[in-house]
Amino acid sequence: MSKSALVTGITGQDGSYLAELLLAKGYDVHGVVRRASTFNRQRIDHLRDDPDLRSRFHLHYGDLADSESLTSVLQIARPDEVYNLAAQSHVGISFSMPTYTGEVTGLGSVRLLEAVRQISPEARFYQASSSELFGKVVESPQSETTPFHPRSPYAVAKVYAFWATVNYREAYEMFAVNGILFNHESPRRGENFVTRKISRAVAEIECGRRDFVALGNLEARRDWGFAGDYVDAMWRMLQVDAAQDYVIGTGQSCSVGEFAEAAFREVGREIDWEGKGENRVGRDRANGDILVRIDRRYFRPAEVDMLLADPTKARQELDWQPKVDFAELVRMMVAHDLAVVRREGPESVIPE
Ligand code: NAP
Ligand code: GDD
Repeated sequence: MSKSALVTGITGQDGSYLAELLLAKGYDVHGVVRRASTFNRQRIDHLRDDPDLRSRFHLHYGDLADSESLTSVLQIARPDEVYNLAAQSHVGISFSMPTYTGEVTGLGSVRLLEAVRQISPEARFYQASSSELFGKVVESPQSETTPFHPRSPYAVAKVYAFWATVNYREAYEMFAVNGILFNHESPRRGENFVTRKISRAVAEIECGRRDFVALGNLEARRDWGFAGDYVDAMWRMLQVDAAQDYVIGTGQSCSVGEFAEAAFREVGREIDWEGKGENRVGRDRANGDILVRIDRRYFRPAEVDMLLADPTKARQELDWQPKVDFAELVRMMVAHDLAVVRREGPESVIPE
């Protein structure tokens, strides 16, 4: 009998890679999709269109804000594994929508945990926890034992969901785990996360569609990996004997400014930085053109200055290691966006 999995957030970056992985392993995959006035299933359309996969790939309407829909989907899917990837996942936007973010990213996870407890208590449960839990870090690198200090409504909601997952494990002996994942990116990353914003802007600049990219804090440091590698870690966490929480990251970090330098280097442009604060600019070394400017709108009321993973436990217990390094990640994202921008019409520029 093939296994079955339920994935919330299947239309997102991670959901699409996880669905591919599970289908390749022979799972029946059930995905939860939100009702919207337009379809936004671009990341998973190729799976629905594939005649060999279609019979094992099922989509159901549901929402983390709506308990009944989650109960209904579980009654149909009866999954062996549940991956809770759905969230309002943008840290910056969570400051504009703190209540909704708490409702979906925090309480939504409890709605799903409770539905699983009632309908499929034997199912193994994965919660998409985040390195944002560490926030204003008290030690570096961060591991499974590092205390939390969340710095945004998003991170506060994720702390709640983290402890709810631990609580369901302890109170009901459910197999419920937290993957504390550091930033992971890909050509499928949403366009308003900083790496994709930069790779897309580099492509638009290179194709003559825009002059510069406007960014916020260039000094923030992140441990950036490839999303395709990270969904494999999620799956591995549900295959071990005892439920435990794991940190997943590369163990290397670099700044937003360094990511921009690397991305522009992919199209043969070196960046020279000048000025301070809001007047800082990145110029094209060859001709002095300004390629990067600072815009106050992209600063956050509270920032996470640096994140760096210690993924030792995952390496030792899950035999997990990232395959794609930083240079390859940047290369992949810029190459993808160059191809997309060249294919699109000249008026197509992603709005800021
Ligand atoms: P993403 O691309 O923003 O995808 C989020 C998904 O959640 C989308 O499918 C979205 O559906 C869905 N969703 C949002 N609100 C929902 C609701 N009320 N009910 C049901 N579904 C809802 O995020 P991602 O990068 O794939 O990340 C996946 C998960 O991992 C998230 O929980 C995120 O917070 C967490 N995480 C991500 C990273 C990272 O670096 N990517 C790191 C650590 C943790 P629509 O398509 O309809 O919007
Ligand atoms: N989005 C964005 N846009 N961020 C910018 C910009 C900009 O124009 N300019 C600078 N930044 C900085 C942010 O202030 C932050 O310090 C860093 O770039 C990364 O921002 P994001 O790409 O938005 O990601 P994030 O680190 O805040 O959150 C992502 O990673 C978390 C894991 O650590 C999201 O995927 C979260 O869902 C995830 O939990």
